[in-house]
Amino acid sequence: MRSKADPLQTPSPVTLGTSGLGHGPDGAADAADLAAARALLTGAHTLVDTANMYGGGRSEVLLGRAIAELGGVPAGVQVISKADRDLATGAFDRDRVLRSFEESTARLGLDTLPLYQLHDQYTITFAEAMGPGGAVRALIELREQGAVGAIGVAAGPTAMLTEYVRTGVFEVLLTHNRYTLVDRSAADLIAEAAGQGMTVFNAAPFGGGLLAAGAHAGATYAYRAAPHELLAWVARLELVCAAHDVPVAAAALHFSMRNPHVASTVVGVRSPERLAQTDALLATDVPEDLWTEIDRLGTPPSTLDD
Ligand SMILES: NC(=O)c1ccc[n+]([C@@H]2O[C@H](COP(=O)([O-])OP(=O)(O)OC[C@H]3O[C@@H](n4cnc5c(N)ncnc54)[C@H](OP(=O)(O)O)[C@@H]3O)[C@@H](O)[C@H]2O)c1
Repeated sequence: MRSKADPLQTPSPVTLGTSGLGHGPDGAADAADLAAARALLTGAHTLVDTANMYGGGRSEVLLGRAIAELGGVPAGVQVISKADRDLATGAFDRDRVLRSFEESTARLGLDTLPLYQLHDQYTITFAEAMGPGGAVRALIELREQGAVGAIGVAAGPTAMLTEYVRTGVFEVLLTHNRYTLVDRSAADLIAEAAGQGMTVFNAAPFGGGLLAAGAHAGATYAYRAAPHELLAWVARLELVCAAHDVPVAAAALHFSMRNPHVASTVVGVRSPERLAQTDALLATDVPEDLWTEIDRLGTPPSTLDD
């Protein structure tokens, strides 16, 4: 019999995302990743976000090793994860979600989780996910058993997420790359979910890189090559931010944080150095004038149409 999961606490403004953790195959990278995992768990933020499939399971393994070294998840911190399809077969039904949960909790060394989310359910239809024997049934069972404190849905396409939000089944929504300085397409979805009392996580405020690393050739937005018009718009954004002495990344982070419907912004952090940078961005003062000037740049040429 499992102990009952703690309820999801009110998140700090930034949640630390670990999709980049655990990509190093060799020992040196492993030690660095472990140091990063320790830093994430002992920083100033209350939530660390992972998923069954991140790094092929390495993200959860590294967090689990750090949790064991620390003698447990530090007080005031919660580790949240997500259920993933079977990567070999694409299967994503009730049984797969229950197996995914067993894998996640075994790697993390935890019996229960405050939040477990349906993640990137692209191999199944909405009807399959919601039907008898479907993935969502398993999440509801886990919640009923007290194995998870809350359940959520975490994915990209806004139209798809809207269907899930309207079921009223989930306590949490995670959307990514669609409420940023360069793409606002999830704004209505975020407001609707918050209006229903859901906790909304807005992930990837830097679009996975472009709004942190800058508009250089080869830059990506939402994990795809950024087209020329988008790079040109971001180059104009960089000039406006520079005139106010505000890093673009700080504007990108604060843009998400100032939406009153966003409970927490999920930033990808995979090293102690990036964690320190994130804290510095968080502490950056962004003058009100900057938002007015960003508005004057007009609608950014979004690359996402879903
Ligand atoms: N479907 C889902 O549930 C879903 C989807 C997307 C994201 N998420 C969650 O949200 C988190 C954040 O997403 P994300 O990591 O894709 O996007 P992000 O937070 O927008 O961007 C993170 C990326 O920005 C780069 N970066 C940060 N500061 C930088 C700097 N000063 N200079 C250059 N590059 C910099 C990082 O590079 P380095 O790697 O070099 O540090 C990293 O690759 C994920 O880890 C995950 O937890 C969930």
